[in-house]
Formats: sequence, C-alpha cells, structure tokens
Amino acid sequence: MSEPEDHAPSGRRGPEGHPVPAAPPGRQGAGPAGPAGSTEPAGSAEPAAPAVPEIPLAAADGGRTDPLVQLSLEQLRRRSSMKWHAHPADVLPLWVAEMDVPLAPAVVETLHRIADLGDTGYPYGTAYAEALAAFAADRWGWDGLRVEHTAIVPDVMMGIVEVLRLVTGPGDAVVVCPPVYPPFYAFVAHSDREVVEAPLGPGLRLDPDALDEAFTRARRGGRRAAFLMSNPHNPTGVVHTPAELEAVAALARRHGVRVVADEIHAPLVLAGARFTPFLSVPGAENGFALTSASKAWNLAGLKAAVAVAGTEAAADLRRMPEEVGHGPSHVGILTHTAAFRDGTGWLDDLLAGLDANRTLLGGLIEEHLPGVGYVPPQGTYLAWLDCTGLGLHDDTPMDGPGVVSDLAGPARMFLDEARVALSSGHVFGTGGAGCVRLNFGTSPGILREALARMGRAMAAHGPRRRPAAGLDAGT
Ligand SMILES: Cc1ncc(COP(=O)(O)O)c(C=O)c1O
Repeated sequence: MSEPEDHAPSGRRGPEGHPVPAAPPGRQGAGPAGPAGSTEPAGSAEPAAPAVPEIPLAAADGGRTDPLVQLSLEQLRRRSSMKWHAHPADVLPLWVAEMDVPLAPAVVETLHRIADLGDTGYPYGTAYAEALAAFAADRWGWDGLRVEHTAIVPDVMMGIVEVLRLVTGPGDAVVVCPPVYPPFYAFVAHSDREVVEAPLGPGLRLDPDALDEAFTRARRGGRRAAFLMSNPHNPTGVVHTPAELEAVAALARRHGVRVVADEIHAPLVLAGARFTPFLSVPGAENGFALTSASKAWNLAGLKAAVAVAGTEAAADLRRMPEEVGHGPSHVGILTHTAAFRDGTGWLDDLLAGLDANRTLLGGLIEEHLPGVGYVPPQGTYLAWLDCTGLGLHDDTPMDGPGVVSDLAGPARMFLDEARVALSSGHVFGTGGAGCVRLNFGTSPGILREALARMGRAMAAHGPRRRPAAGLDAGT
C-alpha cells in the first residue's frame, strides 16, 4: 500500500511538536528524512516511496483487545499528525511520543458534547485540577494535591517555562539529568537560562553525587537554580522511588535549588512499579509539578496542563501572570478532565497492552538485535536502546542536545536502511550518542515488522558490532 504524501517538512518542530532552533547551514539530518540511503532532507526530488506491505492486526496476539490492537496501519496513515507525516509512507514511525490508539470513549463523548453545544469558548474554573486531585488520591494514594495550589497552563513545556520564570531569572541555571527529553535543553536555552548537566548514574537512575556536584555548579556566584526532573524519566522509563525523590528534595534544599517535576508520564507506570508524586515526599514542599492527560490518553493535539505547587511554593505560583491561564484550550481542558475523571478503565486496558508490548519488545530485541542493550522501562511507552556496540556513532555533537530533529549514528542508519524512524540518542544530551529511543505505543504487528527490518539492517553492520556497554540490567 502506498499513498501520495507531502513529504515536505512543515518547519523544524520538536519530537513532541515543540519548535526547535534552526539547524546551522550545511548540517544534514532533520527528522523528515529523505529517501533510503540519501542525505537529502524530505521535500527534495524523491522517487516514489516503495509500496509497503499492509501489516495485519495480528489475530495471534493472545486474544488482546486493548487499545493498541485496534487500529491498522492503513487507518493510522490517514492521520495528519506529525508522527504519520514527517516521513515517507514506507517508513514505520516509532519516534515521536504519539500512540497508535483510538481515543478513550470518555474523551470521544466529551468531544461530541462540545460539538453539540458549540462549547468552544474560553476556559473557566478548576474542574481539571479537581479531576487530577481525585485521580492522584485514587491511583497514587496521594491526597495532598490542593486545588487552590494549582494553575492551568497551555501545556507541560510552557508550564515548565512559566514556573522556571517564577523561581529563576535570565542567566540562572537549570539542572537536568541526561540522557533526557531533548526539549528540556531547547526550552531552557530559549528562556535564557543555562543548562547544567547531572548525568544519570548506574542503571540509568538519578545519581545523587552528580546532582550534588551539578547543584554546586549551578549555584556558583550566587545564581538562582532549579532542577528540572522527569518523573518518570523520558527516555529510559525509569520510575523514581520514594527514597530517590526524598534524596533529591533534601539535596535541593541544602543547595537552595527549586525542583520542578515534569510528571506528564505519571499515569503510564506499568505493572511492577509504582509512581510516587514528587510533591508527596517529605522535603518537597517548596517544589512544583507539571501534569497533563496528554501522554496517557494521547491528547497532545488538545492542549492543556496543570501546574501544581507544594505548600511552600503556593505563593510563588500565585505570581504566575493571569494571561498564562488564557493559553490552554477550553476543549483541551474539558477533554483532559474527562480523561482523568472517566477514562481510567480505558487507561487500565492501555497499560495492560503496553505491558504486553514491553515483553514482546524484549523478545524481539533478543531475536533480531543481539548485542543491543535494553532495560525494560518501568513506565512510559518509550524504550531506550543502547546501540553503542554497533560502532555507528561518534561523540562529536552535531546540532547538539535539544535539536530533536537531528539524526545521527544508529537512528540515521535505521531510518535509511530499515525504514524505521526512531529518536536519535545524541539529542538527549550526555550519554545519549549511540542510543535510540523507540516508541512501543503501537500495534504488535508494527513492532514485529519494525524490529525485523532493524535486525536485517543491523546484520549488514555485523562486522563492526561490539558488545553494548554501560547498562546495568538489574533495574
Ligand atoms: C517528559 C515530557 N515532558 C513534556 C512533554 C510535552 O508535553 P506538552 O506537549 O504538554 O508540552 C513530553 C512529550 O512527550 C514529555 O515526554
């Protein structure tokens, strides 16, 4: 099956749709890639994309009925979002954090009600925060989310920027733990703050020594500083434990660093792990958290998010300018509220499907990608694959961290030779080069086909293969 497609990039956007800085002239790379083996960006003269065999929704998937087995490749290709349009039709897109699922019924009903009523005005009220507070109490056993200590924000990244503005100024420092979600770099730099790295430690978990050292550097010269944490961590899917979070809170307090926890993936914690809200741990009272239904219910196109302040940070959050609350879409708020309030059954089905895909992916990696390191994620639908053993990368930064459309090393090879689009590790900061991020929020059929293609492409690079290093498989 192939279909005519506009392959022209629609401007440089981040993997999650955020704008990214323009690439320096002469750089190769952008996500919307050219034809196989080419270094040309999409949009250049390109032969017709090869016909792609349809991938059936496999009946052999143990009777699965979860949201990940409900849409065929043909249906997905009719979508107009970034995931399905940034690459030619023969590419299987396992990069940007969109899932291949239908909408939850609670969201669909809300959209119908909005359409019937023409309820598309400006947002009002605290229903989103109330639904989130009830969800937090029910799922995570945390009843400390105070609705009066929240603010609606346009989306999580804009919420982070606005919260950072409350507690830091231009030239101040923001600590991040790479490899980490690339827009953390781009947005911080764009806000005229300096990124200070505290790389993840053994097992790709938070490293208190690295944080201690980074907090010291961040505060040098009396600068103000914040720690921007991904909880759970994108791209590794690590879910931080209460002890780890308590240690972060204590360290941050000791150094006078304010913690901003990005908890967008919190509802996506899989069987075997338990999510702990940062603000629920002792010592975190002067921190902030940002949350949204956009990842777990696949609502990135319906913009909205909530900023939550700890009890000691409530006065800071009240200083957030009123106009920030005019940014989120009313339709976004209504649908996100419905997701948190009435979409938990759908979420449970999704989590079961993601758990099954996580296991499937482990088997497929063993079968097709021997030597590639994979620590099954505890949460998210993202897998971090250590392909350093392929010998395809060097440590020379290209456009550098944060430029999410940049492709290098194994991600470039898998796109060109396997026609599978992954996120390139080097844009996730220190420790990312030679790795790729794979989005397994898709059907088992697409996963099988993608991994088989990647295996064939990797086999062609066999002679250069070295054992993957740097992963502690114990987590
Ligand atoms: C850790 C993290 N934060 C933020 C975002 C983007 O959220 P939003 O679209 O609400 O800005 C993503 C998207 O994948 C993410 O993974």
